[in-house]
Amino acid sequence: MKVAITGAYSYSGKYIARRLLDEGHQVITLTGHPDRPDPFDGKVKAHPFNFELPEALTETLRGVDVLVNTYWVRYAHGGTTYDLAVANTRTLIAAAVKAGVRRMVHTSILNPDPESRLPYYAGKGKLEADIRSSGLGYTILRPTVIFGREDVLINNITWFLRHFPVFGIPGDGTYKLQPIFVEDLAELAVVGVLSQDSTVVDAIGPETYTFNDLVAMLKKTVDSRTLVMHLPPMMAYAASRLAGLLVGDMVLTREEVDGLLDDLLVTNSPPAGKTRLSEWAAANAGWLGKNYAHEIRRHFGR
Ligand SMILES: NC(=O)c1ccc[n+]([C@@H]2O[C@H](COP(=O)([O-])OP(=O)(O)OC[C@H]3O[C@@H](n4cnc5c(N)ncnc54)[C@H](OP(=O)(O)O)[C@@H]3O)[C@@H](O)[C@H]2O)c1
Repeated sequence: MKVAITGAYSYSGKYIARRLLDEGHQVITLTGHPDRPDPFDGKVKAHPFNFELPEALTETLRGVDVLVNTYWVRYAHGGTTYDLAVANTRTLIAAAVKAGVRRMVHTSILNPDPESRLPYYAGKGKLEADIRSSGLGYTILRPTVIFGREDVLINNITWFLRHFPVFGIPGDGTYKLQPIFVEDLAELAVVGVLSQDSTVVDAIGPETYTFNDLVAMLKKTVDSRTLVMHLPPMMAYAASRLAGLLVGDMVLTREEVDGLLDDLLVTNSPPAGKTRLSEWAAANAGWLGKNYAHEIRRHFGR
């Protein structure tokens, strides 16, 4: 099969591409960084997103059987907004339909809602509706936090626990999350590529943490002596903005704080992944959080 993946040179898309190559499929990628070094030794040809040139995007997708979409923006930055991410994804879906692509595997978020007050969740909800009505077969994956070598959130919480004397938890920290391992997510994506059905999967891992328990587990794992305290959410967000100025990055977005406080990163569905974050963190404690994972540098080259 010929599969096009957005972001095969980036984070989760790279794991999905590797599995598809291992199974003998032909893979191309769409990316905002076509000049990045190809981690697949020339096996995955890169094409620009071309969201502003839908005809060119359609041409790139001709002959593709399945489109795997990981494209999204974590936060508005410069001219990049959630509205733009929604519009670009709609262009991508329309180009796939026009090019004769059969199905789409799409990475969403747990608990998306077109009516949500949070633009991240609202945008994801609207796009899910668009995919359902596009005529394409689909697998929609709804992850919470994706942990793995290149992950930002778990790594950077651990970085703060390693390097700062105090760590502030927004609110009471009793809200929950169900992180999934990036390899488990990639496996679900490959199942989605090969499937004939149209399905929505809550892509959650086997462990459910309160935020308090997550921080305590990571603290213990790297033997941190940091003082963990609870802060009013707005104060925690302000502290994260301050820390962001220090590292030149967006540490935690307001959306992420609100999503956590609204308990949007938890569901009653059975786990779809098998890897336990606690075991993975213990096995990777040697490097986890030693270096800060810089999101702005990764996507904007600064
Ligand atoms: N990571 C998580 O913990 C997490 C949790 C829940 C849901 N998700 C969802 O899972 C999907 C994949 O996440 P990921 O962390 O694996 O993403 P990623 O690899 O960092 O990026 C995925 C794709 O989006 C593009 N992209 C990311 N930020 C961008 C920006 N600011 N401007 C323009 N393009 C941008 C990347 O472009 P390039 O190809 O140019 O790099 C790449 O093609 C996303 O839809 C995300 O919403 C992720």
